[in-house]
Amino acid sequence: MRYGYFHDENKEYVITRPDTPVPWSNYLGSMEYGALITNNAAGYSFIKPSAEGRILRFRFNALTPDMPGRYIYIKDQESKDYWSASWQPIGKDLSEYESTCRHGTAYTIISSNYKKIETETLFYVPLNRKYEVWSFKIKNSDVKNRRLSIFGFAEFTNHHREAQDMGNLQYSQFISRTYFKNNFILQSINELSAERTYQFFGVSRHDVAGWDGSREDFIGSYRSYSNPLALINGKCSNSLNYTGNSCGSIQIDIDLASNTEEEIVFILGAGDEEIATNILNHYKTKGVIEQELADLKKYWHSKLETFQVKTPDENFNSMMNVWHSYECFVNTFWSRTASLIYSNMRNGLGYRDTIADIQSIMHLDHKLARERLVTILSGQVSIGAALPLVSFKHNPGNEPVLGSLEYTLRNTGYEKYRCDDALWLFQAVPQFIKESGEMDFIDKIIPYSDQGEGTVYDHLKRALVFSLERLGPHNLVLGIDTDWNDCLQLGDRGESVFATFQLYLGLYEFKKFAAMKNLFDDVKWAESNREKLYASLQKYCWEDDQFVRAFTKDNYVIGSAKNSEASLWLNPQTWSVISGVATPEQAEKALDKVYNILRTKYGAMLFYPSFKEYGLPIAKMILYLPGIKENASVFLMAEAWIILAETILGHGNKAWEYYRTTNPASQNDIAELRQTEPYVYSQFIDGIESPNHGRSHGHWLTGSASSIMTAVVEGILGIRADYDGLTIDPCIPSDWKEFEVFRTYREKKIDISIKNPDGVEKGVKRIIINGESILNSCTLPLSKIKEKNIVEVIMG
Ligand code: GLC
Repeated sequence: MRYGYFHDENKEYVITRPDTPVPWSNYLGSMEYGALITNNAAGYSFIKPSAEGRILRFRFNALTPDMPGRYIYIKDQESKDYWSASWQPIGKDLSEYESTCRHGTAYTIISSNYKKIETETLFYVPLNRKYEVWSFKIKNSDVKNRRLSIFGFAEFTNHHREAQDMGNLQYSQFISRTYFKNNFILQSINELSAERTYQFFGVSRHDVAGWDGSREDFIGSYRSYSNPLALINGKCSNSLNYTGNSCGSIQIDIDLASNTEEEIVFILGAGDEEIATNILNHYKTKGVIEQELADLKKYWHSKLETFQVKTPDENFNSMMNVWHSYECFVNTFWSRTASLIYSNMRNGLGYRDTIADIQSIMHLDHKLARERLVTILSGQVSIGAALPLVSFKHNPGNEPVLGSLEYTLRNTGYEKYRCDDALWLFQAVPQFIKESGEMDFIDKIIPYSDQGEGTVYDHLKRALVFSLERLGPHNLVLGIDTDWNDCLQLGDRGESVFATFQLYLGLYEFKKFAAMKNLFDDVKWAESNREKLYASLQKYCWEDDQFVRAFTKDNYVIGSAKNSEASLWLNPQTWSVISGVATPEQAEKALDKVYNILRTKYGAMLFYPSFKEYGLPIAKMILYLPGIKENASVFLMAEAWIILAETILGHGNKAWEYYRTTNPASQNDIAELRQTEPYVYSQFIDGIESPNHGRSHGHWLTGSASSIMTAVVEGILGIRADYDGLTIDPCIPSDWKEFEVFRTYREKKIDISIKNPDGVEKGVKRIIINGESILNSCTLPLSKIKEKNIVEVIMG
């Protein structure tokens, strides 16, 4: 069943019926002020840092899945009927109530049509502002005049931290109050202290007919958002909150003549009386909203337009040109903090996830990627490991190290370093330099998180040394805590094959930097360590047709074909190829086995069968149900690497199959199975052992979108920035006859058209740039790239 469609031209996803299986959401705002909004106008808003900046309340996991939100109620003062401008919270019968939601790039438009009253509400956060606009248009398509009251409603948090607001009522109920100021409700929190903050909700262009600053008075006791007392009464009670719950509710009365329209502008934001007054005044001028929306679209569309594709696959185009790219930005903005799943409790940037996010926007906005990369490099500890979580209040050079009392008191949930975190730098740093051309970035001095500083080159070397000094009995990387898999608790004496592949690749990337800097001792050092790792990976980790996953301290081999459970793992097969360790024969065998055993209708599972007996303390994923999350689901971050690995082997059809079957858009017509938004990636899809195989969970903020983006750009499209130019080496499904990519590279525009007359999966026969053939290479050299370029590629 489908609930909506992609409108590529407008860069929107249009939801045509509001009763989606779960709320389908969108993000508004920027890194300063974020807002999550669902197709029924629910959701919440937050200012930076999101964990300490919640201003709108939201009830996670409530019975009606998305409440409360940005509600606009309408009361017909004659018929006494009332409804809402989004289907929920009133939830009128859908046989009489129509609703459409258009999610766009940082704006959402919800329209309704009920009893000859049409509404359209635009929600957005103006560029670089700390407030949001709800522009509500209402039209009377009846033959007679209609006397209506409109109620805008926003439920403020009493405390900016979710846990305090929802759980510590003996405190949070007594720190917030509201005031009415002419055309807005002003809420204060801790107003007598220096910590005070103010929030407001008001109306710009209309006279206020009534207001409520107390949620209890607006909703009434033993009532809910679906039948507020103010709507029953047809008027607010002009209440204010002193102890209890603050809200902003503003009533406007209008007489709407037949076939006329009115626009009411509500504003919600952070700021005191003066700020609120100024902001509300700003919207008195007509045309401001149209201009701001146009600016917002321009901002986002120009970001997305730095990389556009035109291929035979519509789903691929919709995702790449709009939604997948937009999700990568949202990931970068809000990391894993604020969604309908993450309730703002994680107060920082997860190290490896952030690196994945950085990589995913590299081709779209390398300046933003750089900013985050510098932050994340400064989250590396001077011994070479990395902080698992880099706080939003990160203070480089002064952060406590793991194991110290000060760090433990922070209660991050992490006690030890993970063996893989800093190793992801070997993906992101080279990728950034190749994309930006900023060759001296490698010499940039960046502080360590705890003490001292070093060049990026030093940072990388320390990461390698840290890992090399912590090898186990098989000469493989020790887990310390976990590796990429948060649930594989290998500890100080267990060894990770996956992280060893990463280290092997890291040494290779480092060696290239060392050579560029003429540091030949470092080149030799890296090379000899690579040889040793290669020998042990080949000696201990290869079984007839697969690589194993890990060795525990008791020498139990996780991911051995001999085991009765979890006997084949995806990551060691894919990473054996990505790292270059697998011989061509091993690579084919390992990926064939994945194809035969782990592949499902909805992508490849993380491993199979799930853990049911061998569990804690090492295989923590046993806590999850079979086929779920790290216990044998299709974990999409890992799906990225099978896509990439298949493209390295030149298997375009298989890479595409893994991509296509996990592309959210490919489940648009089976939304009742998928459940989460068909326009964004989720963290995982239930594996075959789940009764709901094919269902998705954990929307928006996830490494899935990030890692798959990299796999698609670098693997399938094969358009990779390099130190000395742009490489074009696609690996595609053989039935693609032609496709186009429009890309910006080092601020220059490159229009690439690729033809595949022989129906191959990989291989470039000819490249012509601006009429000139490139001989014996699929890299466009820098010297040939002009401001604007036309590139033709013939595969074969
Ligand atoms: C989640 C975590 C990520 C981890 C992955 C696998 O996506 O955010 O850091 O690598 O799970 O356990």
